[in-house]
This record gives sequence, C-alpha cells and structure tokens, in this order.
Amino acid sequence: MTDSAASQLTAPSSAEPTVDGNRLWARLMAMAEIGRRGETGVDRPAFSSEDRAARRLLYEWACECGLEVSQDAIGNLFLRYPGRRRDLAPVLTGSHLDSQPTGGRFDGAYGVLASLEAVATLSGAGIRPQRSIEVVAWSNEEGGRFAPGAMGSQIFAGLRSLSDLLPLRDASGATLRESLSDTLAALPEAAIRSSSAPPAAYLEAHIEQGPRLYREEIPVGVVSGIQGCLWLEYEVRGVAAHAGTTPHEYRRDALEGAVRLIGQLRSRCLERSADCRFTVGRLNVEPNTPNTIPGCVTFTIDFRDADPAAFDELGRELREAAAPESFGLDIRELFRHSPEMFPREIVGVVAAAAQTHHYRVLELVSGAFHDALFIANICPAGMIFIRCRDGVSHNPLEFADPADVTAGAQVLTSALLELSRS
Ligand code: GLV
Ligand code: MN
Ligand code: MN
Repeated sequence: MTDSAASQLTAPSSAEPTVDGNRLWARLMAMAEIGRRGETGVDRPAFSSEDRAARRLLYEWACECGLEVSQDAIGNLFLRYPGRRRDLAPVLTGSHLDSQPTGGRFDGAYGVLASLEAVATLSGAGIRPQRSIEVVAWSNEEGGRFAPGAMGSQIFAGLRSLSDLLPLRDASGATLRESLSDTLAALPEAAIRSSSAPPAAYLEAHIEQGPRLYREEIPVGVVSGIQGCLWLEYEVRGVAAHAGTTPHEYRRDALEGAVRLIGQLRSRCLERSADCRFTVGRLNVEPNTPNTIPGCVTFTIDFRDADPAAFDELGRELREAAAPESFGLDIRELFRHSPEMFPREIVGVVAAAAQTHHYRVLELVSGAFHDALFIANICPAGMIFIRCRDGVSHNPLEFADPADVTAGAQVLTSALLELSRS
C-alpha cells in the first residue's frame, strides 16, 4: 500500500488546472437518465436505442467543448482535443457507456465523463499539450447483449476481427450487423475513421467495483494491473432416468458428477493460490424436472488470478480436468486473458498525479477486467480507481461519492497532462 499523505486534502496544487466537480456530477446524473430503471438503476445495452441516445448526448457535450468527433467501424466513439503536434500519436482516455441490465450510474460512464471533464478542464484553462488527447467511449464493454464483452477495445487492439462477430444475434434475434449499422447511422455527424494508429498511452478511470478502497477509507486507487481471467464451459454427461425407480447404485446422475467435479477443482485452486477467484456462475440441468435424474449438466467456471505462474498452472489443470468416474466430459474455453501488469512508468505517473493533489491512495490490482486490459496489448496503459460504496457494482445501488468522483477526475487530468507533454 502506498499511502501518499497522512491526510486527504482537497485543495489542488496551484500549478494544476482544477476540474469542475459539479459539472462532472451533473453530466453523470444526466447520462444516468438514459436507460434509467427505477430511482438509480441503468439498463443501457450496447447498440440499443438507449446506447444511441447516450452517444448523442456525449457528442453534444463534445461539440460544446470544441472536440473533433469520429467513430470507427465497431462504433468506438472518439473525441479529440487536438495537441500542438498533430503528427504525434495521441494519448487515449475513456471507458464505456453501455451497462449491465441491472447496472448503475457509474460503471463505464464515469471513465468516459471523467475523461471529457479532463479535456474540458485543459481546454478551459487554455492548456494545449504537445500530443492530442482523445476521449474514447468503447463499444459494448459489458457484453450482456452481444458476447463477448470489451468488443470495441478488442477490435481496436487487433485481438478480434469485426467480420467474425457481425453475424452474432442477441436474445431477440437481432444481428450485431444491423444494430451496429443503425448505431453508426444515428450519429452521421461523426466521421467514420478507417484505421487508428496505436496511441502513445491509454488511461482509464473507473469505480473499483470491489470493497478495498471503501473498507480502507481511501478515495483513489492506483491500479498496478489486472488479474488474469479464464472462462470455461463444462458439459458433464450421465444418464437421465426415473427419480423414483432407479436405485442409487444404478444411477449416473450428471448433477452429482458436476458437483463432485466442481468441488475438486475449487479445492485445488484455493489450495494452490489463496488469492485466486473461482466462480461457478451458470449451471444448466437437463431435463430440469423434479422427477428425472439429470442426464446432462453444463456449467461455467470463471477463474481469476493475478499471479502469472498460478494462472497458467491452474488454467491448464482446469482445461484438462478429467471426467468424474463413469461420466462423459467436454470442456470448452470461452475466454482467456493472462494477468497484465501495467508499466511502472504509467503507474508512477498516476501515483505522482495523486500525490500532487494530496489524495491518499492505495495501489491495487483490478479484480475485474476492463477495456484497459486489451488496450495494454498495443500501448502503455494504466487505470485510476475511485472507491464505490460497499464495493457494489452491476447493481442499481452502485454509488460513488461526489468528492471521490472529482478526485479521480483530478488525478486523471494531471496524469493526462503529464503523458501528453511530450
Ligand atoms: C468484467 O466486468 C469482468 O467480469 O471482470
Ligand atoms: Mn466497466
Ligand atoms: Mn461492468
């Protein structure tokens, strides 16, 4: 833990431009009206009419600020604050505007609007850095409507091809091709850019989505990296049979097999790596009736670890797990990304920015993945966290204190200024 100052002061150093916390908060609340569910919930699926309205609102704010707006073929929206040297690669900063179906007001939108606040602050103070700073709203980070998530940043980083994904359909049968094309067409003012050179650096501000900052009463997190993440789907096959007539010694109950396998894998992971995360988030039982012994069970494992050796070793074991005795087993990998530690020079820039403003900070590894994980493949990347109440996110109750919202944007602004200086 880096505790950069004994107390949390709010007065910034005089040399640094000061963000307008009220303007940022007002924009966050205005954005949260789009797709609002209940008092504080947000449901803004990627490429939906709500997503289009959110993008238009961002576009209008960008115009007020004199930014140059463009979008790429997957709908990533870029707002450029031109630097003095247009020949230099820009510094990129942002997050996403789409939400989970039971999302809140901060996950994603905070990073986009804090980035907008940063460039509005620099512009308002008449500061024009050497490098351009580009605010980005990545398309479809959540993946709730069209999987996989982080689609925009993965395509931008060259990790996935758009043409492979276009035939995807959502639960209602709508294709990504049509929804994306309607989304691009809904903002004709934003020119379509055919390619983007790799940025000089990328910074993303986000709520922590976990409890560490909240528990330790620290407003700002300097993110040192993102833990590795592996998603696997298991299919355990037994034999469906009558629940009343089949004695236990004759059964091949797929749910029993699945439960045994989950128990073994879970114990192995937690014994080998106390800091890993092991989650079975989906379980489908067939035929799923009270009086038939399950013939087939599919379940997913979401496995995470920040330690590359443990991630590789346990990842291999999870992928190569043996079938429980007398059962059939197939294992399919849905997603994998190794742990990513951000370059120390970027972590240092963020820590120094927090120190400039006398914020108490904690250095921590992100438990969730973010667009920054993928952009880190093409340029030096880093993240800034702010604490969120009870560590809760993906929930209408998600909340970040206005003072922390301001603090994160202030740190982001100073760090961007430093990165765009040369
Ligand atoms: C993304 O939200 C994740 O699952 O980490
Ligand atoms: Mn997010
Ligand atoms: Mn999220």
